[in-house]
Amino acid sequence: MNSKKLYFTSLLMLVLSIFTMMFGVANASASSTDNSVQQIKQKGYIVMGTSPDYPPYEFIGKDDGGSHVYGADIELGKQIAKDLGVKLKVKSMGFDSLLVALQTKKVDMVIAGMNENPQRAKSVDFSKSYYSSDTSLIINDKDASQIKSYKDLAGKNVGAQVGTIQYDEIKKGVKTARLKGMENVNDLILALKSGKIDAIPMDTAVAQAYASHNTGLKIIDAKMKG
Ligand code: ARG
Repeated sequence: MNSKKLYFTSLLMLVLSIFTMMFGVANASASSTDNSVQQIKQKGYIVMGTSPDYPPYEFIGKDDGGSHVYGADIELGKQIAKDLGVKLKVKSMGFDSLLVALQTKKVDMVIAGMNENPQRAKSVDFSKSYYSSDTSLIINDKDASQIKSYKDLAGKNVGAQVGTIQYDEIKKGVKTARLKGMENVNDLILALKSGKIDAIPMDTAVAQAYASHNTGLKIIDAKMKG
């Protein structure tokens, strides 16, 4: 996989016909009997699945009315709903549950900073990519002299969100790393701050967001091979 420029095709849908309509993506796998768009219009809302632990794309924020999911992917979901003339409903779940939820029709689409890759594309259809991203490592300031790229993770405790490309890359690429998978990125950050893990690979903008909100954390380019 080319991890230097990962294409964020997070917008992925079982209902390819929506994209055929909106973006003009032709795909032979879209069946002529698929009536998902019609069903969505009839029910009056589209359900978007996401994992809101990935600022600035999706994250939980609070206002007077309680907690809500915000972020760039939510805005994208709202626009898709608007274009279809329906309301948007956001369903939050662990990142590794999203594709199953899509396949079992618990959600109509997934927008979750998700990259297209061949394995995922076997079971669901992706839209054209709307964002491209690199992987960065988030580490403790004090380890900056020891960890300068993903190669320095050999023999280290590395945390990654389960079901992500980053998890797989460390698993395959740094065999001697002790890899700890967690469902939620916030828990990974806590584990990093308390020294249980030494580094977390994640999409660069997300690493920047977490590093800027947590003192003592630093981000570095993972320099994963292209
Ligand atoms: N871009 C990575 C992937 O596709 C990680 C995405 C994680 N997204 C999230 N909302 N937690 O595997």
